[in-house]
Amino acid sequence: MTDTATLTSVSEPNEHGYRSFQLGGFTFDRDEHFVHIEWPTGRHVTPVEDFLKALMRDIAWNFFYGTVNFDSVIGTVNHYGNVDLFAGRFNDAYRKAELDHMENFDHDVIMGAFKDMLSDWTNDGFDPFAAPQETGSPYGVKHGDNEAAITRTRVTAQRMVGLPGDEKIRTDETHPINRMFADVDQSEPTIEVEPGYENDVASFNLFAYLSRSDVTWNPSIVSVCKESLYCPTTEEFILPIIHGNDRVEWFLQLSDEITWRVEDRETGAPRATVVMKAGDVAAMPADIRHQGYSSKRSMLLVWENGSAELPDLIATGQAPTVPVTW
Ligand code: PHB
Ligand code: FE
Repeated sequence: MTDTATLTSVSEPNEHGYRSFQLGGFTFDRDEHFVHIEWPTGRHVTPVEDFLKALMRDIAWNFFYGTVNFDSVIGTVNHYGNVDLFAGRFNDAYRKAELDHMENFDHDVIMGAFKDMLSDWTNDGFDPFAAPQETGSPYGVKHGDNEAAITRTRVTAQRMVGLPGDEKIRTDETHPINRMFADVDQSEPTIEVEPGYENDVASFNLFAYLSRSDVTWNPSIVSVCKESLYCPTTEEFILPIIHGNDRVEWFLQLSDEITWRVEDRETGAPRATVVMKAGDVAAMPADIRHQGYSSKRSMLLVWENGSAELPDLIATGQAPTVPVTW
């Protein structure tokens, strides 16, 4: 690994209309179908649709927890302030052949380059957050852009959803019920509040709320209790990244079904296939990576421990990689 690299540059548009990007020793090019990535010891080609969907998540989640593998070769490791960009680092064959490569970048440098790349390479009509049947195509020569989709920010509640001021945060006009959640009960719970507490006590139907989500595979933090973060999300098709966590992460399957492909975080060797049906709860260990498949749009609660101390405690063996040992 080299010292923190800052060299970034961009080229004039190529014959397909797209700019090329350089980040340290890495170069990124796109054509009508593929992204081509080169580094000092190798090269890689990947479908542009997969790449843009992964890039969108890496940006939106601010490099997330631990490792974001775009596929089995390319990805980032978050060090919370600086970020590794790697090729083959978590791929056994690349490691053994010594073709893997990793460079560290200041957070703002790599974030800036990634945002420019996503903006330049996303065509009109393609929404990297949307389910496959709810978006147009990313392919072809450069035509237009989709800044509205790639810069969308989450609807932010000012208070708990349901409290006065935030009771109508998702409506038919702004967030119609998704086609796959047409059967989700939209009734709201009845709360009988003691006089004087009307402004402070409320409840809401989380299933109804989630049925109106217009994005897939994009957890939102809906509650924070010390380091405990509840992050529900709606899922359809394939999680566009393979997540290598630096801490234990819990999944609560709220509806329908997701199949998780679980691999060793370092090598990519298969470890398990986990089929989660509505009501199932699973803890993903801190030494694996996982990718979810959801045939029908489903609802998932991702439960994260946000403690900044955990990655180091786990990496140094002071905390276990599993929440419980039988
Ligand atoms: C995860 O990596 O744990 C993850 C990411 C996005 C989702 C669900 C789970 O939508
Ligand atoms: Fe994860």
